[in-house]
Amino acid sequence: MTAVVVCGQHGRMSRIIANSVEATHGMTLRCRLSRRASGPIPNEAAIVDSLSSVPDPPFVVVDFTAREQTAAVLSDAADVPCGLVIGTSGLDERDRQMMAEVAQRRAIVAAPNFSIGLLAVSRFVTELAEQTTEGWSLGVLDVHYAGKRDRPSATAQFLAERWQQRRHGGEAVDVCSYRMGNGVSEHTLLSAGPGERLEVTHQVLDRRAFLPAVLSAIRFVDQAAPGLYSLEDVLPSHACRPELT
Ligand SMILES: NC(=O)c1ccc[n+]([C@@H]2O[C@H](COP(=O)([O-])OP(=O)(O)OC[C@H]3O[C@@H](n4cnc5c(N)ncnc54)[C@H](OP(=O)(O)O)[C@@H]3O)[C@@H](O)[C@H]2O)c1
Repeated sequence: MTAVVVCGQHGRMSRIIANSVEATHGMTLRCRLSRRASGPIPNEAAIVDSLSSVPDPPFVVVDFTAREQTAAVLSDAADVPCGLVIGTSGLDERDRQMMAEVAQRRAIVAAPNFSIGLLAVSRFVTELAEQTTEGWSLGVLDVHYAGKRDRPSATAQFLAERWQQRRHGGEAVDVCSYRMGNGVSEHTLLSAGPGERLEVTHQVLDRRAFLPAVLSAIRFVDQAAPGLYSLEDVLPSHACRPELT
């Protein structure tokens, strides 16, 4: 049985992840973690304010919150035996550095986007970058709900980096961000070369789209050796079929 600690009390992601863990065979929700707990929570799990207060390690910590919370969890994780699944966006260079240091002792899966469709899109970017000639370029349109804290989105940056890493000269990718409405997330790749142009749009219409890969990542870090892993490690292309719950 994998014990899971879900960070966040009222957040949209934290609520659906906690509910999903509770409903998943082989997992148990050990507790919720919030540094600013208030009011009752919809499930029976206890609420704590730091990892060191969680009873009976080891466990897997799932953190889709805000960079302040994620930095605190990473700092605690240096001393608490646990695996980590991190989806928070807006992390800065210092947070990433801390994550790399903690990963020397803990298994961590971190991904800018846990949707299966986006994983396929990112593989497509790699193939496009490798197969096209120098005259081709890429742009990314990033559309998220009004009030999202970070811009450009971590996913847009990730797609741009995938392209740049595979192109000679690390050519720039234009990223255009809009924060409007109440949709979940949308990324459009625009790419063109001599005589050709293509567009690929990926929309998340329901946050439950993230859950299959989050649950797979929980199972993965529960068994994995220390290290920093991506969703590619959790769901390699020949096995990209997480159990649906
Ligand atoms: N990687 C992915 O696939 C993926 C998918 C969806 C979302 N995300 C990211 O996940 C994060 C949460 O998204 P959401 O839609 O759930 O957002 P949300 O509904 O606004 O919830 C924000 C969460 O962050 C916590 N929080 C906010 N400010 C905090 C602070 N100063 N100190 C400690 N905790 C704080 C809240 O904790 P309390 O509830 O305890 O107050 C809450 O659980 C965002 O960074 C989002 O971009 C990533």
